[in-house]
Amino acid sequence: LRPRVVFSGIQPTGVPHLGNYVGALRQWVNLQRDEQPSTKLIYSIVDLHAITVPQKPETLRQRKREVLAALLAIGLDPERCTIFYQSSVPAHSELMWILACTASVGYLSRMTQWKSKLSLASSSTLENKSVGSRLKLGLFSYPVLQAADILVHRTVADAFTPRATHVPVGHDQQQHLEFARECVTNFNHAYGNHLVHPETIVSPAQRIMSLTEPTSKMSKSHEAQRSRILITDSPQDIRSKIATALTDSIPGISYDPATRPGISNLLEIFSVFDTERRSPTQLARAYADASPKIFKEAVADALLTGLQGIRDRYLDLSANDSYLDKIEQHGARKAQESAKETMDIVKTAVGL
Ligand code: ADP
Ligand code: NA
Repeated sequence: LRPRVVFSGIQPTGVPHLGNYVGALRQWVNLQRDEQPSTKLIYSIVDLHAITVPQKPETLRQRKREVLAALLAIGLDPERCTIFYQSSVPAHSELMWILACTASVGYLSRMTQWKSKLSLASSSTLENKSVGSRLKLGLFSYPVLQAADILVHRTVADAFTPRATHVPVGHDQQQHLEFARECVTNFNHAYGNHLVHPETIVSPAQRIMSLTEPTSKMSKSHEAQRSRILITDSPQDIRSKIATALTDSIPGISYDPATRPGISNLLEIFSVFDTERRSPTQLARAYADASPKIFKEAVADALLTGLQGIRDRYLDLSANDSYLDKIEQHGARKAQESAKETMDIVKTAVGL
């Protein structure tokens, strides 16, 4: 029996916010405990995906480092996991090219994210037209790279007893996983049964909303710094952001996301970090008559306890470039080995 492989990627967009942590990264940490020790956990900082949109080289370099430090600070163990920059393992791009040669342009052009870019570009304003002429091939084809990311880490000894690769994804990524399966089908049709259809681990869709505009999700793209909590924020900043989070003037605390999005979001954050594991509804009952101030202080306490240590570890790691380099090189070597097995099979199959 071959071990399972779990692959997941994160864009190098700097220190993760609370939404990234709750919606994705916390699961990465938990998999260290929940998966069999034999399961390979492969986590990539996907810098090649980042350059599908313009990047300042210095900023990109810095953000990769920030994400690496953050991943270690939240408790990913570089011995248990394989953590590396995507560009350190050229097999990702190499397999992408090979997959691209059997991938369907029609399928790619029907993908939601591309269609939304395209419809913006073909709309009539002059400004959007110029966006259209600047649409890049990399942006169009990045789902092929995403497929390669996953498929390259399947290690197979022979084509008939392959094991699946498991990919934890949010709902927004389902379509890309479908496309990866399509890439497998097309490749295998052309060259024989060598690639395995990846399975997905769909993580429970826990969404954290913006603190200043609680009807939209917390995101790094929001202008207002106070709309999000970074997992490395100081305790004072966390307290102050929670204290000024937008709520409503209805007296008391109750859980009702439709009519009370601000309070409900805070109840959900509270619930995620509550040491007594109470649901938002149970917490609402416990704080039913509390003032917003008292309630928010309790939310901040729970959050600070839950994030305890992350900031200090992050600051230590960030000050230690050579250690971060060592960790990344170690991960890259492990990832290169894992990718090589697949590439040998694929290249032989293709005749390269
Ligand atoms: P952003 O919206 O800040 O640009 P990304 O799109 O880069 O975040 O998302 C990175 C990961 O974090 C994805 O797995 C995504 O599902 C998750 N994520 C992002 N924002 C949230 C949020 N507000 N709540 C829960 N999960 C989130
Ligand atoms: Na986003």
